[in-house]
Amino acid sequence: MNNDRDDRQHILGDLLAWVRQNESAGMEWFLDEGSAPVAETSTESVVEPSPKPSPEPDDPFLEICTQFIAQTLPLIESQPSPRPTGPASADKASLLAALKDEVLPCTACSLHETRNSTVFGAGNPDADVVFVGEAPGRDEDIQGEPFVGRSGKLLTKIMSAIGYGRDDVFICNILKCRPPNNRDPQADEVAACEPHLKRQLAILNPRVICCLGRVAAQTLLGTNVSLKRLRETVHFYEGIPVMATYHPAALLRNPNWKRETWNDVRKMRALVDALKSGES
Ligand code: URA
Repeated sequence: MNNDRDDRQHILGDLLAWVRQNESAGMEWFLDEGSAPVAETSTESVVEPSPKPSPEPDDPFLEICTQFIAQTLPLIESQPSPRPTGPASADKASLLAALKDEVLPCTACSLHETRNSTVFGAGNPDADVVFVGEAPGRDEDIQGEPFVGRSGKLLTKIMSAIGYGRDDVFICNILKCRPPNNRDPQADEVAACEPHLKRQLAILNPRVICCLGRVAAQTLLGTNVSLKRLRETVHFYEGIPVMATYHPAALLRNPNWKRETWNDVRKMRALVDALKSGES
């Protein structure tokens, strides 16, 4: 019993240290036009994770974050179906590659008729975090990679602000093919594509899934609850904790949502770290 308490104290101590160290990294990102500082050597498409900034001790968010972790860890521990064991880390890359070969020629819905590319997803097969967006847009359809357009560049900066490079995480979408004119995914398209995502997430078995935007969150969680409410707490997909935040495209339209997004992703990063440190 006491050991559990000591462990929890230890995790919260680590978490507070991390949040303090990273606190000021996000400020410029959400207050200026909207980007975490880009390392001098980086190009447009390569953003280095932010260096650790100096501590910023008086942030009320520290308390919020600590409470979030203190409430969320017991919730995760009490889940009737815990996160599955998943495949061995060493096997994930080949399993994903085999799945990708199966998914690329998919003709399960009519979107294959208009696509240039099937956008399977990309990143680290053994990632702690999987970001799930809605569907490929024009740039993604052309390049065959997720989140490479304007909103993708912002996503790269959001990830950088919490210390992740694109190769640290895995990024994919609910739909693997672009809906014409970027319209919302239709129910039959989601139903046809869902088995791909399900198998993908079973292989990746991340510690946390981060849904980008209402459509991704509602679809993955099978709910009509608003994004505002979904952002308030952690949810579960096949035993894996799920958090939701704004879609980067929505942030480009509404920069005043960046501060909330910054808080969401800091909480998400803190949760990942707390879960990891609880396992070691
Ligand atoms: N928007 C998405 O939801 N996904 C992408 O891959 C690109 C833009």
